[in-house]
Amino acid sequence: MPATGHYQCLLFFSLLLASLHLAAAMIPALAPAPAADANATAHRILARFGFPQGLLPGNVVSHTLSHDEQFEVELSEPCYTWFSDLAYFEKTIRGRIAFGRITSLSGIQVRKYFIWVDIKRVVASKDGGSLVFTAGFLTERHPASEFQDVHRCEKRAEISSSGPGGGRAGVAVA
Ligand SMILES: *[C@@H]1O[C@H](CO)[C@@H](O)[C@H](O)[C@H]1NC(C)=O
Repeated sequence: MPATGHYQCLLFFSLLLASLHLAAAMIPALAPAPAADANATAHRILARFGFPQGLLPGNVVSHTLSHDEQFEVELSEPCYTWFSDLAYFEKTIRGRIAFGRITSLSGIQVRKYFIWVDIKRVVASKDGGSLVFTAGFLTERHPASEFQDVHRCEKRAEISSSGPGGGRAGVAVA
């Protein structure tokens, strides 16, 4: 084999090895994480993408993240948690995640002016200090610090509303 041919041959094999290596590196990302680690790693993944970890509650049982940014998070059960609004998490949450940007989101609803709205998109500000949530025509900015702590997720929600006296009226929602 002439010297150039030999070189091309080597180049071909190193490219082949490199792509096999890449493919192998993608496999763990596609496989669901074992349940014991899933909760903690789901929150770490949020942080890696520039989001506060408390965006997801603390009862994640599995998650997948594919190389094309699609993610799926499975909770132990659908549940409620309070941020500045009451939020409802379905058992399965899906969407696309890129750095500072979650789109095509499904599975998270927030109670706004007595109606439930689907959060479709969450975008972090450049400095990571705030998050902009989009639900239909509604857009709202919240400080990221509001989502720093991972909340426990409850089967039932106490809906509290500030009455004229500023009191909390508890209504149980199942
Ligand atoms: C899930 O992970 C978060 C963040 O690491 C942690 O705060 C929370 O307590 C964990 N929940 C459980 C049930 O272990």
